[in-house]
Amino acid sequence: MTTSELAVGAKGTAVLESDRSYLFYRDSETSVKAYRAVCTHAGCLVEVGTETDFACPCHGSSFDPATGEPTGGPANSALESFPAAIDGTNVVIYLDS
Ligand code: FES
Repeated sequence: MTTSELAVGAKGTAVLESDRSYLFYRDSETSVKAYRAVCTHAGCLVEVGTETDFACPCHGSSFDPATGEPTGGPANSALESFPAAIDGTNVVIYLDS
């Protein structure tokens, strides 16, 4: 993903590691947040969502893109987060191997 695909204040998603989906939120010109897109309620795929928060389509949980913490629905723990950065024109996520 490049910075032109993720404007400041925007959310995005990418499939990495073959088939794992990740969520991104660019909170400033120079920083970005990244999370695994697996709902902490029952494991559904969390989507970018149309409102401010990330959204899970299964039972309606929502998550704050700045922190990963749940903001609604049955989920009561945060999305798994990963270090991420802006490196030139690239959005970089650092995954455990
Ligand atoms: S699995 Fe996401 S709200 Fe239930």
